[in-house]
Amino acid sequence: MPEIALTQTPAHVRHGSNIGQPLTRRDGILKVTGSARYAADNHPLGMLYAVLAVSSIARGRVTFLDVDAAKAHPRVVEVMTPANKPKLAQDPDEKSNPFMFRLDLLQNDRVRYANQPIAVVIAETLEAATEGAALLSPRYDTDPARVGLDATEAFVPEAVGPGHPPMAHRGDIKAGLAAASKRIEASYETAPQYHNAMEPHAIVAAWDGDTLSVDTPSQGLAMARGRLAGLFGIAPEKIHIRSPFLGGGFGSKGMISGPQVLGVMAARMVRRPVKLVLRREQMFGPVGHRASTRQTFRVGADSDGKLTALDHRTKTTSSTFDDFFEPASDASHTLYASRAISTSHEAVRIDTGTPLFMRAPGEATGSIALESAIDEMAQACGMDPLAFRLANYAEVEPISGKPFSSKALRDCYAQGAERFGWQRRPPAPRQMRDRDGLLVGWGVGTATFPALMFQGNAKAVLRQDGSGIMEIGAHDMGQGAWTALAQIAADSLGLDIDQVEFRSGTSDLPDAGIAGGSAHTATAGMAIYNAGADVIARLADLATSDNRSPLFGAGNAGVIARGGRLFRRDDESRSEGYADILTRAELAAIEGQGSGATDQAAQLSYAMHAHGAVFAEVKVDPDLGQMRVTRVVGAFAAGRIINPRMVRSQLCGGMIWGVSFALHEHAVMDLRSGRPMNPNLAEYHIPVNADVPSIEALLVDEHDPHVNALGIKGVGEIGITGTAGAVANAVWHATGCRVRKFPITLDRLINPQSG
Ligand code: MOS
Repeated sequence: MPEIALTQTPAHVRHGSNIGQPLTRRDGILKVTGSARYAADNHPLGMLYAVLAVSSIARGRVTFLDVDAAKAHPRVVEVMTPANKPKLAQDPDEKSNPFMFRLDLLQNDRVRYANQPIAVVIAETLEAATEGAALLSPRYDTDPARVGLDATEAFVPEAVGPGHPPMAHRGDIKAGLAAASKRIEASYETAPQYHNAMEPHAIVAAWDGDTLSVDTPSQGLAMARGRLAGLFGIAPEKIHIRSPFLGGGFGSKGMISGPQVLGVMAARMVRRPVKLVLRREQMFGPVGHRASTRQTFRVGADSDGKLTALDHRTKTTSSTFDDFFEPASDASHTLYASRAISTSHEAVRIDTGTPLFMRAPGEATGSIALESAIDEMAQACGMDPLAFRLANYAEVEPISGKPFSSKALRDCYAQGAERFGWQRRPPAPRQMRDRDGLLVGWGVGTATFPALMFQGNAKAVLRQDGSGIMEIGAHDMGQGAWTALAQIAADSLGLDIDQVEFRSGTSDLPDAGIAGGSAHTATAGMAIYNAGADVIARLADLATSDNRSPLFGAGNAGVIARGGRLFRRDDESRSEGYADILTRAELAAIEGQGSGATDQAAQLSYAMHAHGAVFAEVKVDPDLGQMRVTRVVGAFAAGRIINPRMVRSQLCGGMIWGVSFALHEHAVMDLRSGRPMNPNLAEYHIPVNADVPSIEALLVDEHDPHVNALGIKGVGEIGITGTAGAVANAVWHATGCRVRKFPITLDRLINPQSG
């Protein structure tokens, strides 16, 4: 554990030995023994089952639902339709901020996309509710569906991603291209992807008068509570959400979804607790997805292999009724120091559920295209793709001109290349074969993700017996937040981790902000850290102002906390235990508060990003075109590592998604009906163990003193970036064939023009 250099730290902040340890998940045994209670595991007394009926058309109106047939089914209790749904206090199509998504809550008979909820059947059993939903036999007035990137007229959206401007320029692209000695122009397409967390969106809702109790997975408890409060016209304090475990989220549980709200409406209607769980195919519509993109590049480089122009244009899709635009071109803001950079976005509105943030939104889609284009440019210059990246990576963030930690990126290139054995790579494609005659190819991609923070709060308590409590409404999506945050809690309190009761995952605890944007450990971690510092400062005040204490007169900044004791900094032989201090003061407990948020001043002066370099090996059957990734090495610099085991797991998970992006994931839309044709895990391919034999994440040492006092950057999303491009580039190196449509499937490899 390296010495901790803190920048924004009050002198009294103390550090222990929990941060940096590779602890296993503290909830691991609960999970592997099946005793962790996920939302759908709850069965309150008197609970009914709700099942959605969803539209089989993508556009039109529902003209008939056979409610009588469904209600005639024994054990069906109620059928909720636009005609009889409970009144809401807010129009679900109203939107007062960009994080408020328009929801389909049976507000009318319109169908805006396939798999949109059109009714809810509530029954005594799941089977009866399912059967009841089938008996509704809807009839429709069907309008022609519009799906795909060319279905409607393109326009320039007001903003992309979370409120970013749709275009940005630095330097003169025309002049940059004119000055280039080599130029490429190429278009890449990415497919729609669906979040497909293991745990589908599920909710158990129970009303008691105007008090609402909810079990549901959430990546943003306070926002979910606020949204429900608005829709049902009750005070947020009347709503209690429990979300102790999530079986993944990837962004689709960041905001409460329409189906979750329908579960609450159903419970209101029947005045009994109701459980609603989405079936897998119902997740291909109302709970978000990653929109498809077409990305067009014009890139130029001079005779030294230095970029002179980088023009990145994205066309993407969104729904007809809401605004989320995949910010793919933003990927070019960060990585390469071109003399001129231009990024822009345009979009079409199609008959789809609204796209949403999906793990590395913009960065993942943009990265695979950018890394492919950079490789094509390197090839045009006759340069090794790693050497080309080393010649062009940015020392300052290109688009903002702010300095950032580019030395860390150089370290990632060096350590990753060394581990992978990159120097043995032959420059030309189709040069390597394995013993079985398979073509072997190696590719590289640069990874990056912004180091973000949201706003979060925590409360710390020290009890008279010397133990501690940390309270924060944080979210463990499976990434290990319960472990990493508890490590920070322990160190902030100067206690062993077993002496701290870590309370998390419910909406009545202090708001931890959203678990998204790879910002949760930094945001919640800093809130915890500051709450711990606050309560320790209060404890130090008690001791240092009491002449019966051996610490009397040391001054607040003159003591440190460690192992449940305060020590004089100038004379560690003088110390006192927490329990003794509180007992003498006759206090059962003392409390402290803390918050974590972006350091606005630092943001003005520095660009903040995590970095990485990913190297991939693929093997391709020369006759059949079958591709397999055989090796991936990623080296990542992401600031202070709170728990290397959790971090490696996050990075490997991200890299596997990168493999998936390059070779597997693809929601196939039927152009006639507008329906996703593979809404299940059998046909919507994601990698299994056999698809990724060897994957390694190296942690590159990095101390970034500007991001926050603990130096934490995010690791949840960066793994996808770089990897997808590295795999695509490795396929080119194995075969000499450049496929510009993702995923790279074997039909596309054999015929790059194929759909
Ligand atoms: Mo992530 S897409 O911000 O959950």
